[in-house]
Parts: sequence; structure tokens; C-alpha cells
Amino acid sequence: PARTARDVALPMEADALAAAVRSCRQCALWRPATQAVPGEGPVDARVMVVGEQPGDAEDLAGRPFVGPAGRLLDEALVAAGLDRAGLYLTNAVKHFKFQPRGKRRLHARASAAEQSACRPWLQAELERVKPRFVLCLGNTAARALLGAGVSVNADRGVWHASATGAAVMPTFHPAYLLRLPVAEREAAWAAFVADLAKVREACE
Ligand code: URA
Repeated sequence: PARTARDVALPMEADALAAAVRSCRQCALWRPATQAVPGEGPVDARVMVVGEQPGDAEDLAGRPFVGPAGRLLDEALVAAGLDRAGLYLTNAVKHFKFQPRGKRRLHARASAAEQSACRPWLQAELERVKPRFVLCLGNTAARALLGAGVSVNADRGVWHASATGAAVMPTFHPAYLLRLPVAEREAAWAAFVADLAKVREACE
């Protein structure tokens, strides 16, 4: 199909947004981090996937979901028939927060203040992309979209109305699946793939 003015203009704005995210100093997380990780994907994506925060691999690469959790997400997307290239992938918090442990950097949860300092970036991404559907991976993302009362355990796998106008579905975070005991992993994996399949069906 022919490219429209919209196709051409929006990516430039999106690049400006990514550059602004990379220069953010609204909280202290930027200092120890390698770099911020802005969202990526088509600016006209119908589906936005929101994670918690970049992990070690994402911090080094500057791209979302390229580490172990990202690989599991990729597998689940394939199993559910969703094309990653068509999705806008981002995080509720744009810098990796970690605790040094020897040579390793262990994930640490962003504080409420750090999460709210980062909220305008997610808001800007939502306004730019205007997704019809938002899939929230884990409680941090779900609460960023739907408020503090929501939880993955209670509210997973169904669409919720949100202030953004998008339908929002909370589901498991892939890193949670990686941490589950083997005995529980199979059922949770099936539920995760089933949630992703609902996103595909919503787009049909
Ligand atoms: N986990 C997340 O929540 N986001 C990423 O980008 C990678 C891992």
C-alpha cells in the first residue's frame, strides 16, 4: 500500500520521543544504568505490550525484551500466532534498576516514586501509538494502566476498560514463568499463551 503522510511523519516524532526518553533525568535510576530503553515497534501498532522494566540484557542493548524473559515472550507469541514485528513493545519503567551482586546485576523493583516519575513516558507512548489493545505483563504494568487495585492473579486474561480508551488485559510476566517450579510452569505457560491468543483474536 502507498505510504501516507501519517506513515512518514509519525516515525520521526517517535524517534524524538525515544531520544527524550534516553535523556530522562526525572529520577536517579539513569545514573547506574547503561542507558534508557524506549519502546519499539510500529507507531500505528494496534497492540501495545507493556512490561515492567528493562533487564540486564535490555539495559546493555538499549532494546526491550531481548534477554531471557524476551525470548520466552517470543516463544509464547509464536505459539499464539502473534507477529512480534507488528507489536509496540515497551515498559512501565524505562531504566534497569538493579542491585550489584558480585559480577551480576540483580533486578530490583522500582519504587512508587520511580514508577510515577516514569509514567509520563508511557503516557506519551500511549498517546502517540493509540493502541486499541494493551497487554500488561505483570502487576507493575497492569497497575500503571488500570490502577493500584488490579492484580494479575485476580484480573488476568480478561479485557478491562481503561482511561486511555484502549482495552487492557493483564497477564503473567514471562520472568514470573521462568521462576515458577517446574510442576506449575506448564499450566501457567498454557494460560499465558491462551491470553496472547485472545489478543490475536481481538485483532481479527
Ligand atoms: N522484562 C521486562 O519487563 N521488560 C523487558 O524489556 C525485559 C524484561
